[in-house]
Amino acid sequence: MKQPIHVTVTGAAGQIGYALLFRIASGAVFGPDQPVVLRLLEIAPALPALEGVVMELQDCAFPLLADVVPTADLDEGFRGTNWAFLVGSVPRKAGMERKDLLGINGKIFIGQGKAIAKNAASDVRTLVVGNPCNTNCLIAMNNAKDVPADRWFAMTRLDENRAKTQLAIKAGKHVSEVSNLAIWGNHSSTMYPDYFNAKIGGKPCTEVITDSAWYAETFIPTVQQRGAAIIKARGLSSAASAANAAIDTVRSLINPTPAGDCTSVAVCSDGSYGIEKGLMFSYPIRSDGKNWSIVQDVPVGEFSRAKITATENELKEEKSMVAELLG
Ligand code: NAD
Ligand code: LMR
Repeated sequence: MKQPIHVTVTGAAGQIGYALLFRIASGAVFGPDQPVVLRLLEIAPALPALEGVVMELQDCAFPLLADVVPTADLDEGFRGTNWAFLVGSVPRKAGMERKDLLGINGKIFIGQGKAIAKNAASDVRTLVVGNPCNTNCLIAMNNAKDVPADRWFAMTRLDENRAKTQLAIKAGKHVSEVSNLAIWGNHSSTMYPDYFNAKIGGKPCTEVITDSAWYAETFIPTVQQRGAAIIKARGLSSAASAANAAIDTVRSLINPTPAGDCTSVAVCSDGSYGIEKGLMFSYPIRSDGKNWSIVQDVPVGEFSRAKITATENELKEEKSMVAELLG
């Protein structure tokens, strides 16, 4: 049996935590032969509820769950951690944009970034889910300067999964036939789901769905507003699909990307595609199972460039709003 890896989940007593922990403990993320220690970080008032979640984890008798550490202490939460899922933060309510949460949530990521730099394992990788996730990740990364920039990720995989499903429904195909769907930019209502480079059944998406008005008038707004539509319908923000996307994100980073395909995650921009260096920007990504890279040869036409610039501008604006939190 392998040595256990340590996996931190913040906000572990929340709704995404409840949908995420049991799948990590079952082996769905790190594989059927990889034991895990779950380090569950919460704020002190949520510790009694977290204790109930811990009891349920114990009652599952998962063979791969080596230990569970519930805590409200940042150092203990990130001690020796190999993978950190930063979920804990306040979700938006109906009528809000995700960036409206910056004032409430942004400061959480200062202390967590520092605690990761101080306590985590030397190979730590961090996925930020808590909104606004791109800029929260920027804050954490900038407060953990010893941790290399290529270890920080913010989640846009839910947008990728949503976009693939909308294309599959329109084309009358199964979602598994949709590939090469890149989300560019921010996890926000400016994100750009790039249908020009997507494929359905291996063919260019635009040859399969020829209704060009549908893309601009229905597809893009549906994907951009899907989170708000779920909040309106459920009275709560997405949770099971968000946890599933977090799992998909990590699996896609630690396993090789299928030949010719890509996945989407926000990473620290190196200036690729003319995006400002240092922004946490969602790009088409490929992984060899250990290292990831930005796919460099994706055609970007005039329509796509305008959308990409709009989402970049929003990320620049968010960055200026949190300038004093960047360490
Ligand atoms: P929730 O309110 O159900 O749970 C959040 C949990 O975080 C709570 O248990 C709370 O006690 C805890 N928490 C708050 N501050 C904390 C801190 N400083 N340290 C540790 N824990 C803390 O919310 P949820 O539905 O689980 O959503 C969590 C976040 O994920 C929200 O910001 C939401 O908007 C975001 N989200 C992102 C995506 C995405 O695609 N990136 C998708 C869905 C939700
Ligand atoms: C989502 O996309 O469902 C989440 O980011 C929650 C939200 O605020 O929309």
